[in-house]
Amino acid sequence: MEPPTGVFEVRDLPASWMLVERIIDWQVDHYRNAFPSFDHDDWIVFYNPLMHAHDGSLPVILGAFEDGRCIGTVSIVERDDLDDVDDYTPWIAAMIVDPARRGAGVGTALLDAALGRCRDLSLGRVYVWTHDLGDWYRRLGWTGVETKVFRGTPITIFRLDL
Ligand SMILES: CC(C)(COP(=O)(O)OP(=O)(O)OC[C@H]1O[C@@H](n2cnc3c(N)ncnc32)[C@H](O)[C@@H]1OP(=O)(O)O)[C@@H](O)C(=O)NCCC(=O)NCCS
Repeated sequence: MEPPTGVFEVRDLPASWMLVERIIDWQVDHYRNAFPSFDHDDWIVFYNPLMHAHDGSLPVILGAFEDGRCIGTVSIVERDDLDDVDDYTPWIAAMIVDPARRGAGVGTALLDAALGRCRDLSLGRVYVWTHDLGDWYRRLGWTGVETKVFRGTPITIFRLDL
């Protein structure tokens, strides 16, 4: 395989289960320690509606592509998998970058693109939850609104007014 060029673009992710299976491998690996019960089937349930998500409204799934190869993804969904949070919508969800391509600005570009899409859709605010990236979201201007325990692990819900 050719070495990566470091040049990438963010665009809608095509509805490809082959692509999503690779992404699910990253997700399962990343969440294995904090959320051991979060398995492949949970991710299939998450990604299934996103495979039909190309009509210009929510949900949205974006991918970062380098030389045609997907190196990261993020979604915007109306409801996330937390209980008792119906007042919070929509969500930036399932942001992840290929472990081999982290630290090169891909995550920042994905988040920017997702927020841009939220603004295009005239969404006034957006939420995200995280168990370990709170400092990053705070630095980017997000406000913590609630802490909860999800599947046994403490998480914080953040809000950003757009
Ligand atoms: C979080 C993630 C998407 C960032 O992607 P990336 O391409 O490596 O990000 P960037 O290169 O754009 O760097 C973004 C910033 O995040 C910071 N960062 C990355 N991981 C971090 C962590 N665990 N805690 C705090 N900050 C972190 C980087 O230091 C960088 O800070 P800077 O802007 O001051 O340089 C990537 O590390 C990843 O896929 N992690 C696993 C999945 C995950 O945690 N998803 C978020 C769910 S809420």
